[in-house]
Amino acid sequence: MDKDLRQIFEDEFAKAPSEIEEQAALAALGDEYPFGLETYSWVSRTELRHAAEVLSQVDGPIADVGCGRGGPGLWVAGVLGAPLVGIDIAESALVRARALAERLGVEAEFSLGSFEETGLAASSVGAVLTFDAFLFTPDKLAAFVELARVLRPGGRLVMTSWDYHSQPDNRPPQVPDHRPLAEAAGLKVLAYEDTKDWYRRCVAFADFLLERADDLAREADAPVVEVRAGISEMRATFECMTRRFRLVAQRPIM
Ligand SMILES: C[S@@+](CC[C@H](N)C(=O)[O-])C[C@H]1O[C@@H](n2cnc3c(N)ncnc32)[C@H](O)[C@@H]1O
Repeated sequence: MDKDLRQIFEDEFAKAPSEIEEQAALAALGDEYPFGLETYSWVSRTELRHAAEVLSQVDGPIADVGCGRGGPGLWVAGVLGAPLVGIDIAESALVRARALAERLGVEAEFSLGSFEETGLAASSVGAVLTFDAFLFTPDKLAAFVELARVLRPGGRLVMTSWDYHSQPDNRPPQVPDHRPLAEAAGLKVLAYEDTKDWYRRCVAFADFLLERADDLAREADAPVVEVRAGISEMRATFECMTRRFRLVAQRPIM
């Protein structure tokens, strides 16, 4: 695990959710923005409904890996009436996720772990969710192997993340296509689709934040130069992306 990356997320989730970032997400996603879930991603209402649909026949607990403040996994688990286990590298995110679970009345536990080492027992979950977090794992094959290990036979993985045509600065190694890695880990890929409007949404989010950089700096009590540099760096990574995909995969029933 990249320690600096962990510290960045630890510091980020120690702060209250940013009102300006929520406005930016709303500007980018419009009526697809999933209000009330404290998302820290581009996950949309349609994508959450889709996840609940493709997991409707799956039995057992659901894991959300890279869960952040927990909202997406809590929503899906709540709809399916399944217990949730959320995993993240940042303890501050887990603290917020536990509070959100309480408010939403969804049975859930949250623990520290990573894609490469979830801490979950083998064949212990019926489904794994992960929204806009897999890009941060440095070893994507090892991560798929771990997700396949914790899934029960017949269990499903639902993921959104990005394929890259070139390596962005200051990010873990990226790959051009996730399907071969998922298959090499023993998963059967059932669906792999571009997500709607992804590039425009990413750029709209970043541009909104750049316009409000002064307010963001005040909100975060941080130098505006640093805030601008962080947003610009994020925006530059979009130019290295080929697609934001939605993957559905299954651990085969032997
Ligand atoms: C963009 S946020 C997405 C959070 C959440 N899935 C959502 O949709 O709001 C990425 C998350 O991945 C977590 N993360 C980063 N590297 C990770 C790793 N190697 N293993 C597990 N989680 C990781 C971060 O702490 C952060 O919570």
